[in-house]
Amino acid sequence: MSEMAVDLTFANSSLAKTYVEFRPLPPETLIQHVLEFTKEKRPLPLEICVDVGCGSGQTTMQYSQHFQHVLGIDVSSEQLELARNRNSHCNVSFKKGTAESIPVHDASVDLVTCCASVHWFDLKKFYAEVNRVLKPGGVLACYSYFGCSPLFKGKSLRSEFLEIWDSLDKYWTEGHEYLRTEYATLPVCYPENLYLKGLSVEHDATLDTFLGYICSFSAFSKMKAAEGEDVANIFLEKSRKKLVSAVGHTDDDPPMRRRYDYFLRVFRKPLQ
Ligand SMILES: C[S@@+](CC[C@H](N)C(=O)[O-])C[C@H]1O[C@@H](n2cnc3c(N)ncnc32)[C@H](O)[C@@H]1O
Repeated sequence: MSEMAVDLTFANSSLAKTYVEFRPLPPETLIQHVLEFTKEKRPLPLEICVDVGCGSGQTTMQYSQHFQHVLGIDVSSEQLELARNRNSHCNVSFKKGTAESIPVHDASVDLVTCCASVHWFDLKKFYAEVNRVLKPGGVLACYSYFGCSPLFKGKSLRSEFLEIWDSLDKYWTEGHEYLRTEYATLPVCYPENLYLKGLSVEHDATLDTFLGYICSFSAFSKMKAAEGEDVANIFLEKSRKKLVSAVGHTDDDPPMRRRYDYFLRVFRKPLQ
């Protein structure tokens, strides 16, 4: 991908709060895969994990019991403030910084993680930074999900959901194409790597939950800023109607489920 300036869409306190409310947590099985891969060539105890693009920190904290110290890095002060307020772990801290200039020493990190964030970065600069900060045998783990699948009485409304996603097309970044390919096209950082898909989490939901989730899209936030509140509200109403029609023309808010299918790419820095 070409070089790009750091995108500050998430530096918006209202979007940061919506994000906390409507975004999922990666499944514990995914975290275990990352840890197993890391432990293969790094001696225990694992010392430092750096979570880049940590946002409000919920995914950073998932590593607290596995490392001596976990550091979350984000470019957005608003996201970091939420992360610090939510943090109850004494070995987890947060610092402002960018993926392209990670504020840690050379060869000091066992694991660099990026949850739903690597597709925002200037990959050339980020991979160079990863190579600088990782210890030999250290690991880069990139994982995400591509939207969600609304489920109603066992029926998937994934295609309706993707239509909503696609209708915001001009507001998604070039990097979001990596989500569409489930990170299969993400450039290789190191030859030794692992690619896993279909690591899912499911939660209860209502139509309102899906609308809240759409409000947490960076593309929705950009559309609202460019076209105004009224256009954004009309977009939400149309999205609601599309989902209502798919569940069978009900005006109620029927109990539904939402599934997020995570994919994971892990790369190991050579020992020498
Ligand atoms: C989609 S959010 C993911 C947040 C968190 N990892 C999660 O899964 O909940 C992407 C985050 O990456 C951050 N970000 C985007 N570009 C960045 C960059 N170049 N350097 C550091 N953080 C960046 C944004 O501020 C945002 O908090």
